[in-house]
Amino acid sequence: MTVTIVGSQLGDEGKGGVVDLFGEAADVIARYQGGDNAGHTVVEGGTEYKLSLVPSGAVRGKVGVLGNGCVVNPKTLFAEIDDLREQGLDPDVRVARRAHVILPFHRVLDNIEEDVKSDTDLKVGTTGRGIGPTYEDKMGRRGVRIGDLLDPDVLRERLEYVIPQKRALVEDVYGIDLEEVDDVIEGVDVEDAFDVDAVYEQYERFGERFAEEGMTVNAGEFLADTIDDGGEVMFEGAQGTLIDIDHGNYPYVTSSNPTAGGTAVGTGLGPTTVGRGEVVGVVKAYLSRVGSGPLPTELGDIDEQEEGAGDTEADEIATYIRDEGGEYGTVTGRPRRVGWLDLPMLRHSTRASGFTGLAVNHVDTLGGLDELKVATSYELDGEEIDTVPSTTERWARCEPNYRTFEGWADVDWSAVAEEGYDALPPEARAYLEFLEDELDTPVYAVGVGPDREDTVVRENPFE
Ligand code: GDP
Ligand code: IMO
Ligand code: MG
Repeated sequence: MTVTIVGSQLGDEGKGGVVDLFGEAADVIARYQGGDNAGHTVVEGGTEYKLSLVPSGAVRGKVGVLGNGCVVNPKTLFAEIDDLREQGLDPDVRVARRAHVILPFHRVLDNIEEDVKSDTDLKVGTTGRGIGPTYEDKMGRRGVRIGDLLDPDVLRERLEYVIPQKRALVEDVYGIDLEEVDDVIEGVDVEDAFDVDAVYEQYERFGERFAEEGMTVNAGEFLADTIDDGGEVMFEGAQGTLIDIDHGNYPYVTSSNPTAGGTAVGTGLGPTTVGRGEVVGVVKAYLSRVGSGPLPTELGDIDEQEEGAGDTEADEIATYIRDEGGEYGTVTGRPRRVGWLDLPMLRHSTRASGFTGLAVNHVDTLGGLDELKVATSYELDGEEIDTVPSTTERWARCEPNYRTFEGWADVDWSAVAEEGYDALPPEARAYLEFLEDELDTPVYAVGVGPDREDTVVRENPFE
């Protein structure tokens, strides 16, 4: 039996917390896509753990697997493992030998390309972690895989092919003189990033550490063996459906498939194995977004809110929600844009991933608002539509049709979590039940605070 946890919106829905909650019953937690662009938070007994690449099951001492669909920056991975050890955890992380390696020049290129796009509508607002350029090289068949780090001859051969190409890209296409740019971009020494010997030396040493610590695996085989031995596997999605490379609002997306289909290709288990399990969609009770791209239900204007100039009612509500919900990026610290819950978006993600259950977070954050709105459909070119159009330009032109809900009070949420679902304010239950009806999917869990304890569990997908 497997359980897959997927972000249903734009990332930061609270996937880490849900993985931690339901992961109690799992033996292995596997990531199937993304890299250290993800920032997942787990709060246990008041202690906050911030995880980026290490699967969130580490907090409960579960084995974590980074599947072949992930892109791995060994430097940040080892730093994260060391930090978690300092926090008293003992992360047991296995990395697929088929996973691709984020190399220093990927990070530099990510930043150069964002810079080049900065005056256009094409700027994505990436996390700057080199995610896109690494997936590009994977698809371009010029990437370096984790398994290659263990074979110095292969590693050198790959680097000798790819690095001169990247140097030429920077110098001849972007017209940038590498000697002229800042010495350090995103913690990467730019000169070394384009130097075969320097990269080889550093990455061969990473390979040695992977080997010494016995961290590399054939992910599909490892997970299949776990299941054959009667173990339970959980898949931890990173990012969210609307930033999926295929099902998201291209080009304002990440370069992988957070939707549930990604689990099979990204780990090496068959879709039938994954499909016999459950897929839980994590929903934030409103919306937040970091980075560019449309957000039809957006409340006010983030730039004005940041300057303290936004004084419309929408700006005030957005600022209230941002402060109450701590809506600042886990990885980058950027303030997140805020909007009302969007049902057309959730219909799209429910279909794309086949959710069997939902976990709705941040119900506490909305407490204290007089009323709230939910987009139930969009108006586009005089037509009413109930899901997300497949071009971003059309999505950007959608005007939401709203249904207004009565707000609920800011109650003692810990007491609610202890007492259970019926202790939720009736207005909050009405909101949740509307969502269940519209999406024809049951709510398994309701988040009423960041801590593991602050959750109302109605059904455990592993039981
Ligand atoms: P992820 O990327 O989907 O794992 O989500 P993040 O960890 O980036 O962002 C979610 C933030 O909301 C974190 O700070 C969580 O601790 C917090 N959080 C998660 N669920 C809840 C909830 O139900 N209520 C509140 N107030 N905070 C929550
Ligand atoms: P978690 O797992 C929210 C966004 C970036 C940018 C776009 C592309 O914590 O939900 P990238 O660096 O991936 O090439 O950036 O995707 N993005 C996220 N937004 N949560 C995330 O992860 C994200 N990972 C990437 O802000 O808009
Ligand atoms: Mg996050």
